[in-house]
Amino acid sequence: MKEKIVLITGANSGIGKAAALKFAKEEYQVIMACRNMEISYAVQRDIIETTKNKDVDLIELDVSSFDSIHSCCKDFKSKYPRLDILIHNAAYLNHGETEYKLSPEHIELSFATNTIGPFLMTQLLIDHLSKSADPRVLHACTTNIKNFFNPKRNIEFDNLRGEHKDTRPYSTYKMYGDSKMALLMLTFKMAEEYKRLGIKVNALQINRVKLSKETINKMRSIWKTFAYLQNITNPLPAGMADTYFHICTSNEFKHVTGQLINHKREIVHSATSEKGFTQLKNIFGSTSYPKYAKNPQNIAHIWGLSLSLTEDYMSKHIV
Ligand SMILES: NC(=O)c1ccc[n+]([C@@H]2O[C@H](COP(=O)([O-])OP(=O)(O)OC[C@H]3O[C@@H](n4cnc5c(N)ncnc54)[C@H](OP(=O)(O)O)[C@@H]3O)[C@@H](O)[C@H]2O)c1
Repeated sequence: MKEKIVLITGANSGIGKAAALKFAKEEYQVIMACRNMEISYAVQRDIIETTKNKDVDLIELDVSSFDSIHSCCKDFKSKYPRLDILIHNAAYLNHGETEYKLSPEHIELSFATNTIGPFLMTQLLIDHLSKSADPRVLHACTTNIKNFFNPKRNIEFDNLRGEHKDTRPYSTYKMYGDSKMALLMLTFKMAEEYKRLGIKVNALQINRVKLSKETINKMRSIWKTFAYLQNITNPLPAGMADTYFHICTSNEFKHVTGQLINHKREIVHSATSEKGFTQLKNIFGSTSYPKYAKNPQNIAHIWGLSLSLTEDYMSKHIV
């Protein structure tokens, strides 16, 4: 049995579930951090039976809630001596949703789940990560961030606490893209901040993967049909799960940090130009991300926001 410990959020379906299976097969100690315990328990049993790896644990986590993140980290730390790999896979995107929703801390739900939650969780686990000989953090990002090649696109920073929820049209798809762009910018900053602790932080640009029935069934009708049609040609989650595994365990990525990596396992670079033919290559290719992500002011903004939203909680809840 390998000694390495991996924690995967949202490991009850899709890529997260396939990743839990992959790590379990490879004899890692796997901790599934999931919201729906009934469904997740069945998945955990299934993974243990399939892989014969008994070291597959399940801890409750709603990553949109600070209290739930705190209790998950506390539980994890009481059971495990350190953390080697942390995969922030869970995300909120409900296609067709038009209602602006707030988390328990009054943060827009996509941002709470996809950006601020993962940030707080890493902060709370930092001491356990720094005890590992080769700690790696992976953020599940998306090709949706390419929308920021549009020079008019900005993160809706002024509407993250419900400021304009009743007057501005809400697009869950746009907020999802904003939250994942913010997660990418945090990847760059966290990599810099945690270098002294030897912690590597990267993001994976996920393009398209078959969605689970459960995820599709949460969508509104027209989106459901669209998703089932797309699923016909979309690849299975197992391939992306193998990429999670490769980035988090291989020697190739041992010293790589602060990078966006694509589905072909190549490093994605900031676009050199966002005009003419190069812009077409940016949009249709997978080797460049918008300059917006590397703008120091944008990075400082999301870093400052993440700290200010969580510092009060952090100071009162040292795990
Ligand atoms: N599939 C794609 O084509 C694609 C493309 C680009 C990026 N991605 C990214 O890849 C990652 C995995 O996506 P997927 O396609 O595998 O989706 P999925 O099957 O819908 O899985 C998402 C997981 O996140 C969990 N989750 C959502 N909100 C949560 C919360 N508040 N607390 C804890 N867990 C929560 C879900 O749990 P419940 O079952 O409880 O809802 C589910 O386990 C996501 O970060 C997604 O943004 C996917």
